[in-house]
Amino acid sequence: MLPLELNPDRLPQHVAVIMDGNGRWAAARGLPRVMGHRAGVEALKSTLRLCSDWGISSLTAYAFSTENWSRPGDEVNFLMTLFERVLQAELKALEAEQVRIRFLGDLDQLPEKLQRLIAEATACTAANCGIHFNVCTNYGGRRELVRAAQNLARRTAKGELDPDTIDENSIAAELFTAGENDPDLLIRTSGEHRISNFLLWQLAYAEIHVTDVCWPDFNAEALKTALLDFQSRNRRFGGLDPTTP
Ligand code: FPP
Repeated sequence: MLPLELNPDRLPQHVAVIMDGNGRWAAARGLPRVMGHRAGVEALKSTLRLCSDWGISSLTAYAFSTENWSRPGDEVNFLMTLFERVLQAELKALEAEQVRIRFLGDLDQLPEKLQRLIAEATACTAANCGIHFNVCTNYGGRRELVRAAQNLARRTAKGELDPDTIDENSIAAELFTAGENDPDLLIRTSGEHRISNFLLWQLAYAEIHVTDVCWPDFNAEALKTALLDFQSRNRRFGGLDPTTP
């Protein structure tokens, strides 16, 4: 049930999350960093369920960036295995809850087993009519824009596309998020005020909520706070507030 303080008519349709602070959460408890990622999975599962229950149409989570390969090999391997395990364990629940899952990013650089599981989960849930759950994996916003430019240039070189007809819709259609509305709200946990190469094009008009809560501690209360903050904003999209004299 949606908390009473929230206005059901003014919810963001699409929420994006930068799930930061797993390592710090673990360090604060004297645990290895990877235990923070394991706890982070539970926070992600509960956030997905809350968003779905509260009527949010899409949730996009930043699970692994193109820059995250520079982390210690053990941590990268742990994360890849964690993604595989979670996908195997959760596929039935995703299907039952009508979640449509997609993975956004350069997937061909991921371990083959993970690629297979991703393909299976994407296909099994493609026709589901519930929340859209996008997991950005080996994702980089700049790389996504380069790829879009290359695709448009290729079509232009073949004579299929007139450069003068390229507009914002043409670029949006070449992004991993093609067909998805832009996020209305970006939540970043653990206090850092950065976008970190996440959804550079798509976040153009998103409201940004930064919380000091570390990702594994992100719960219903923290989501409610983010949504209340969103509902307190006056979204003008570059125009004027209609009440401005
Ligand atoms: C950032 O915290 C978190 C990550 C790089 C990994 C996030 C991944 C998950 C929560 C698992 C998601 C699982 C699936 C299947 C989608 P950090 O390590 O940068 O934290 P720190 O800044 O405190 O070091």
